[in-house]
Amino acid sequence: METMTTQYWRVDPVKPQPEIVFKAADIIKQGGLVAFPTETVYGLGANGLDSKSVAGIYLAKGRPSDNPLILHVSRLEQVDKLSSGLPGVALDLMDIFWPGPLTLVVPRAKGVPDAVTGGLNTVAVRMPDHPVALALIEAAGVPVAAPSANRSGRPSPTLAEHVRLDLEGKIDAVLDGGPAGMGVESTVLDITGEIPVILRPGGVTLEQLRQVLGEVKIDPAALGEKLTANTPVKSPGMKYMHYAPSAPLVLFEGEPGLTCRAITQQAEEEMAQGKRVCILASKENAQLYPGEAVILELGSRDKPASAARRLFRHLRECDRLRVDVILVEGLAPQGIGLAVMNRLRRAAQIITRCEA
Ligand code: TXA
Ligand code: MG
Repeated sequence: METMTTQYWRVDPVKPQPEIVFKAADIIKQGGLVAFPTETVYGLGANGLDSKSVAGIYLAKGRPSDNPLILHVSRLEQVDKLSSGLPGVALDLMDIFWPGPLTLVVPRAKGVPDAVTGGLNTVAVRMPDHPVALALIEAAGVPVAAPSANRSGRPSPTLAEHVRLDLEGKIDAVLDGGPAGMGVESTVLDITGEIPVILRPGGVTLEQLRQVLGEVKIDPAALGEKLTANTPVKSPGMKYMHYAPSAPLVLFEGEPGLTCRAITQQAEEEMAQGKRVCILASKENAQLYPGEAVILELGSRDKPASAARRLFRHLRECDRLRVDVILVEGLAPQGIGLAVMNRLRRAAQIITRCEA
């Protein structure tokens, strides 16, 4: 692919400067690609109604063309033109959770390009809760198709610097609004069937959705793979790897004390072989691990939101430090912890369950 000069513009994350927003919106209107911060992660935006622009996203990311994109809107009315008929619960959900990290999968209108939906008869829509994202969409005057602004398969970007590392020379501009908010992506909820189904856990939790909707299912694929007690399970191959740092990642799930001991033991074995080990640890256990390992703290076990904010940044830090193996303390799959565990399971090469 030809390289271009990527422009970087600092923008006030609270009150984005109109002249910068307009420059970025112009690029989108002309068919180009602009990365921008949202309340979840950085997105890579293009005109969502133009197939050619959308094709540029797939090319820049190296993304398989059958993986559909989310259309981002700044006003509720925009959704009417994107859907051939909104399910009854849509308005309630938008009213409660928008702007915010909830993506709704709804029946698709004719005008939505195949390039966005991967040929499906549904389309994913969301209104992000970030002043820069909203101002950009508003100024562009079109729904903005935006996946996370990483190379396909890599951890999602939570800083403009992460976008630069992955997409320098492949996109027109980056709006640098500082750190993205929650650190994990939006929840993807399919509301086209009788019972809403979570396709990807994210910023809006299962618990929050159940409060509003009653019954909510989780797609088995959204949970990560099935585990067997005490047996390391190989992930079913690179095809399903995602969010992955360069070094192999081993995820330890189960009782915190046993998890900590198993990680310590494996760390010692790996280091004895001369390997550089990184441990992603809870605040509670961080002090207990061998001092020769690189320890990156995810935060307290009771505060999954801090793990969410740090996860992708830590995975990229592992790359920068060129560690040979990453050992990760899992957390309870509750609240936003479910989203964190989904990302970790998908990034993991091996999942080890630690139970008495
Ligand atoms: O927080 C987010 O959602 C970020 C920010 C930038 O908004 N975006 C994001 O996009 O994470 P992406 O492309 O990395 O993830 C979109 C997810 C994918 O898992 C995709 O398969 C799913 O949404 N998706 C999109 N359209 C869909 C559809 N019509 N049916 C089912 N799943 C869909
Ligand atoms: Mg992504």
